[in-house]
Amino acid sequence: MARRQIGIGVIGMGWMGYVHSRSYRHVSDRFFDEGVDPVLVLCADADSKRAEAAQARFGFRKSTTDWRALIDDPDVEVIDITAPNGMHLEIVRAAAAAGKHVACEKPVGRFPEETIAAADAVKEAGVCSFVGYNYRWPPVVQYAREIIAAGNIGTITHYHGRFLNGYAGNPHAFLSWRFEEEHGLGTLGDLMSHAIDMAHLIAGGIESLVAERETFIKERPVPDPNATSHYAVGSADSDTGPVTNEDYVSSIVRFENGAPGFLESCRVINGAKCDMSFEVYGTKGAIKWNMERMNEIDVHYRDDENPAEDGYKTLLSGPAHPFHGSFNPAWGLNLGYEDTKVIEAKEFLTSVRDGAPREPSIEAARAVALVQQAIIRSWKSRSWEDVGGEK
Ligand SMILES: NC(=O)c1ccc[n+]([C@@H]2O[C@H](COP(=O)([O-])OP(=O)(O)OC[C@H]3O[C@@H](n4cnc5c(N)ncnc54)[C@H](O)[C@@H]3O)[C@@H](O)[C@H]2O)c1
Repeated sequence: MARRQIGIGVIGMGWMGYVHSRSYRHVSDRFFDEGVDPVLVLCADADSKRAEAAQARFGFRKSTTDWRALIDDPDVEVIDITAPNGMHLEIVRAAAAAGKHVACEKPVGRFPEETIAAADAVKEAGVCSFVGYNYRWPPVVQYAREIIAAGNIGTITHYHGRFLNGYAGNPHAFLSWRFEEEHGLGTLGDLMSHAIDMAHLIAGGIESLVAERETFIKERPVPDPNATSHYAVGSADSDTGPVTNEDYVSSIVRFENGAPGFLESCRVINGAKCDMSFEVYGTKGAIKWNMERMNEIDVHYRDDENPAEDGYKTLLSGPAHPFHGSFNPAWGLNLGYEDTKVIEAKEFLTSVRDGAPREPSIEAARAVALVQQAIIRSWKSRSWEDVGGEK
């Protein structure tokens, strides 16, 4: 099979820009048989030093401070957006209008309406798209999806999903764009978008819900202009300003298949580090998974014949599970967070190769956005709301 070269442009060379660039470099190795070879053509960052450093580090042919140069470059076939959320819609629209395929980090838009507008632009242009819902990709999560589809745990009775993370738990962390409503949603846009997507993957579409929110840390130090990272911290005597979006969101949901569920996210949690997890219960069994132990999954099949042994068993990720064998041939030799991004890049590039959508395309982000809209309506109405109801 002839190998297919795909020209890549990455916009925003911060944390995710590095992770995405590195992931593209790994695709032709880890997934050699797919026959796709990403070519790192051009990277952009508003800060020229960051752009140049990324060019040197990853071997991009060129770098620029003007993201529009990527749209105009005939060698760039794929626009990968790892810039701040406020820029995503404008870039997606420009890329799609130019016929470029689009990979975009979650939550796509600052607000659900922007995500929906971005999905509309991609749909109209007919280009391929992909969204960074990388928690789908641990091999044991993909395996969970397979055994649920095969009916091994029976009919789903209920679902718990959450993303509890303490990245903003320090009350002296600067009042960056992440904490200001004018720049977008708080935890609902950031962490909860992953939890909603996971619920869609594991338990299906959500029909209706009722939701809560809270802001636990109400004031934060106004930013030092030199601090751009959301991990940067001020001092106890810094001037402070109000946090205007939510630290915490929870929602009781009803899935389209009739199952009830509960979703919860918090960015200032104590204790949990990356408790991106789910528990799914069925008429014949149950499954539990947590990103903090991403290579393990607890599976239970009800055994009334042998009640003394009737409990969860822990499976370790191994080559019998999807994708694991592309990284190593052994059970219990673990994959890491960035490997999920390599799988994500491979899935996207094979979608581009085939000219056919693969999940999670930007339509998965549209589905998440419709749930987020219902959550926001419920915050205001204090009552149950239908997903996909009034826009
Ligand atoms: N899927 C995940 O696990 C995950 C994790 C972290 C972040 N994210 C998402 O990735 C995106 C980026 O987050 P991050 O943590 O990498 O942010 P970051 O702040 O580390 O990086 C953003 C970069 O964009 C650059 N930038 C700003 N304005 C620009 C412009 N006009 N043109 C080009 N570059 C510009 C900044 O200089 C910076 O280098 C966000 O949408 C975030 O929600 C996803």
